[in-house]
Amino acid sequence: MSPEARVLIAPSILAADFADLGRQVEAATEAGADLIHVDVMDGQFVPNISFGEVVIDAVRRHTDLPLNIHLMVNEPGALMGCFHKEETDQVIVHAEACTHLHRTVFQVKEAGGQVGVAINPGTPIAAVEEVLPYLDIVLVMTVNPGFGGQSFIPESVNKIRRLYELILTKGYSAQLEVDGGIKADWTAEESVRAGATILVAGTAIFNPDETVSGSMQRMRGCLHGLRPSP
Ligand code: DX5
Ligand code: ZN
Repeated sequence: MSPEARVLIAPSILAADFADLGRQVEAATEAGADLIHVDVMDGQFVPNISFGEVVIDAVRRHTDLPLNIHLMVNEPGALMGCFHKEETDQVIVHAEACTHLHRTVFQVKEAGGQVGVAINPGTPIAAVEEVLPYLDIVLVMTVNPGFGGQSFIPESVNKIRRLYELILTKGYSAQLEVDGGIKADWTAEESVRAGATILVAGTAIFNPDETVSGSMQRMRGCLHGLRPSP
């Protein structure tokens, strides 16, 4: 990360009030979110079903921010047309869900989108290494995907650091995103110190205890002055 770059915050709408989704997305946008994270779950790759194209298209009408589209679905290549629609869309597929990961990555790139690959907590960094030079984003899951509100797996910090060092050593340009259990506390701080440049936060941003603007402010405050270690 260049010294002037700031850490990006991507509120995950999975924790938002779906009966008031448009306004929640607007609140996150007004509160200074950098991206809107949308979690698509198919009930197969992960043990939960969330939402799909129709809801994402509705979200698009309430923000100008790029969508950070996290596809927790098996063989996402077949569904790409449903999700990649705008030039600014960031489409993230799971390494574990793609039989032909290289092909899927290039499918997104050739369609003109930004592409990311995510790896689960139990998946080694090696699973993404061969495609890393082509990625805009590599996402380290810091919980097992499928649900919001889970606790950050502490061993993830070491994994983030190893991936950051690999990106740095090879001179790749991928942003390093983390997702799961990120709060305005040591989880965000240690992730950024280890090299994370995009933080996804669901329940930390959308929760009944504070306003979206209040929680965004707390998250930004806890990151103040932090840079990944070289
Ligand atoms: C989990 C999703 C996350 C989720 C994060 O499978 O990928 O994006 O919304 O929620 P929190 O921040 O509450 O762990
Ligand atoms: Zn996610």
